[in-house]
Amino acid sequence: MTSWCTNCHGSARASAGISLTTVASVRTHQFAIDEVAGTGTSMPPGGGPSSAERARLTEWLACGAP
Ligand code: HEC
Repeated sequence: MTSWCTNCHGSARASAGISLTTVASVRTHQFAIDEVAGTGTSMPPGGGPSSAERARLTEWLACGAP
């Protein structure tokens, strides 16, 4: 989240009303996050994370983001 997301989804600026600065907020949005950044690739808008990183994100979210 810190590497790829909070620049736009932070406390000062929360694109789409989604702030991802705490693990609690990530858990709240876990399905949407997987849809756009794990299984899907529309976030971050410019791309960047490797497919291995995206696969790891999907796995972590599926475990409830422990
Ligand atoms: C360059 C800025 C930027 C970055 C970086 C970025 N986002 Fe976004 N995000 C946006 C904007 C703007 C929107 C709202 C418009 C849209 O959906 O394209 C959005 C929308 C979303 C949504 C809501 C999508 C929906 O269908 O409602 C989610 C979830 C999301 N981003 C997650 C992430 C995650 C996770 C990352 C990191 C991997 C990330 N974003 C990185 C700008 C960004």
